[in-house]
Amino acid sequence: MQHVKFTQMAEGDREDYTFLEAHERESAGAVGTRLLAALADLDDAASAYRVSRYEHSLQSATRAWRDGADIDWVVAALLHDIGDLYAPYNHDEYAASVLRPYLREQCTWVVAHHGLFQRYYYAHHFGGDREVRRRHKDSPYYEDGVLFCERWDQASFDPSYEAMPVEHFQPLVVEVFSREPYRPEFIAAGQRKPLVDPQVAAQRAE
Ligand SMILES: [Fe+2]
Ligand SMILES: [Fe+2]
Repeated sequence: MQHVKFTQMAEGDREDYTFLEAHERESAGAVGTRLLAALADLDDAASAYRVSRYEHSLQSATRAWRDGADIDWVVAALLHDIGDLYAPYNHDEYAASVLRPYLREQCTWVVAHHGLFQRYYYAHHFGGDREVRRRHKDSPYYEDGVLFCERWDQASFDPSYEAMPVEHFQPLVVEVFSREPYRPEFIAAGQRKPLVDPQVAAQRAE
């Protein structure tokens, strides 16, 4: 494999950095595939829930798919817990950082905050404030966060639910991570797409 000439960055020249840029672009093209491998690792993570984090992720994405959600939402649902193994105390921010250059801002925002929104389902059992999500009530994506947790995240711990196989989602992940990063048309700042589209859901159910 070809390498740069320098051993300290300060010594690099234009040829080195042009070469590096092209090499890093190529490597970034494999991010989708790497993320699918990282997702599979969630299957081994010790879990006291009744399904593994991997199964939970597949169930979340399957529910999104069956709700008629678009590709950004489905990929967000699939990868929302990708940080569980490496960032257990801020896994939502971890996942959002991975998704941010490629996904619609709406979906990244919801993934970034889903840990806090999920507290609605258990914080009161510890004397905490289950409505801590209200902190974000003025966000244009507040209702999306509520719905994401209600319909997809908190509901996906069911060993009897039949999730779709990862192969179904693979092309969607590859497509999203093949996008040119940070392109305004994909980030679509401020734009909201519904989590549930009954018409599309009906077509997919056929
Ligand atoms: Fe989570
Ligand atoms: Fe989750």
